[in-house]
Amino acid sequence: MEVRVQNIRKEFGRYPALEDVSLDIGSGELIALLGPSGSGKTTLLRLIAGLESPTDGVIFFGNEDASKKSVQERNIGFVFQHYALFRHMTVLENVSFGLKVRPASRRPSAAEIRRRALGLLELVQLSGLEKRYPAQLSGGQRQRVALARAMAVEPNVLLLDEPFGALDAQVRKELRKWLRDIHDRTGHTTVFVTHDQEEALELADRVVVMSKGAIEQVGTPDEIYDHPISPFVYGFIGQSNCLNVALSNGEIWFEDRPIGLRAANEPDGPATLYFRPHDVELIDGCGGCLAGLVTASRRVAGTRHLELDLGRTQPPVEIELPPERASSTDHTRIAFRPTKWKLYRAECDLAVAPMPAEPAQVELAQTGT
Ligand SMILES: Nc1ncnc2c1ncn2[C@@H]1O[C@H](COP(=O)(O)OP(=O)(O)O)[C@@H](O)[C@H]1O
Ligand SMILES: [Mg+2]
Repeated sequence: MEVRVQNIRKEFGRYPALEDVSLDIGSGELIALLGPSGSGKTTLLRLIAGLESPTDGVIFFGNEDASKKSVQERNIGFVFQHYALFRHMTVLENVSFGLKVRPASRRPSAAEIRRRALGLLELVQLSGLEKRYPAQLSGGQRQRVALARAMAVEPNVLLLDEPFGALDAQVRKELRKWLRDIHDRTGHTTVFVTHDQEEALELADRVVVMSKGAIEQVGTPDEIYDHPISPFVYGFIGQSNCLNVALSNGEIWFEDRPIGLRAANEPDGPATLYFRPHDVELIDGCGGCLAGLVTASRRVAGTRHLELDLGRTQPPVEIELPPERASSTDHTRIAFRPTKWKLYRAECDLAVAPMPAEPAQVELAQTGT
């Protein structure tokens, strides 16, 4: 079902947790709400579910004002990060629960409930485990049961609040692919909350980036990654570098020299240059480019990460190179140029660190290969 969130404001006490949030969710869409802790993701989800009511604004389910519907009438499937399944019930009983407690007029027969629950367990790949109790399952299996239970009531909307947040990285990755696959088969309108940008970009049809109770940007994963509209979005969805630069006659200057990048339609003045560690090329004999001294070198899986010092007043820069560049030891001078970059007029906002990637394997630069 289509859900439209219009000019929602939600206050807890004096401070708004959400401020003028509007979002159209298409029927059958998989939407990710992505943002740091405290940005208002859970609050937005609870408002859609009807577990909270807005201070201001309206939410529509189809063409109907949802404030006129109770939580039950909204018919939501909800999965939480730490959703305790009913411990005293088997897997099958957990999945059947939402149907069993329906009023008699809308309750399917016992045989039909069983048939549907078994079908859902097959969908979430837990056939054969229906007699187990939650304590006899792994964390990933429990969340799959929780999802089957949420889907059992044929919800208008599935709301998933960091459902894989408590699981380890490998299981998270598997469940991510699995959830996308289930969504493609069942077509539930789904809103998925995460603070992990990789999860959002891989999983969602559209990503909603939130910060401080407001929506910063809405777009497809490609749009968000390739055209982040603000330094916040740029910094939040991937590793980033920021340098203070200046524009003069359509050329980008760094300190006392142009660096070979053109920004033809930009007015003169100070600006910030953002680029990602892997979007750089090395330059030999640099006349107009960026250059810095290596201060640290780390091997991270298939690439080598170098930290460069570009000057006293600039934040350190990180670049990624093929691992065979092991000779890049401390105090080597490296000249480079970003191949993809973005200019913003705001100050460098490096307070926003992206999610850490896999734990880095720190390695002495001299070890070579
Ligand atoms: N029940 C509540 N009472 C008071 N403040 C709340 C309540 N729920 C959320 N908040 C506040 O609202 C803001 C957004 O919280 P939340 O929606 O949980 O963010 P997120 O899910 O993105 O981490 C936070 O500042 C949080 O402290
Ligand atoms: Mg939350």
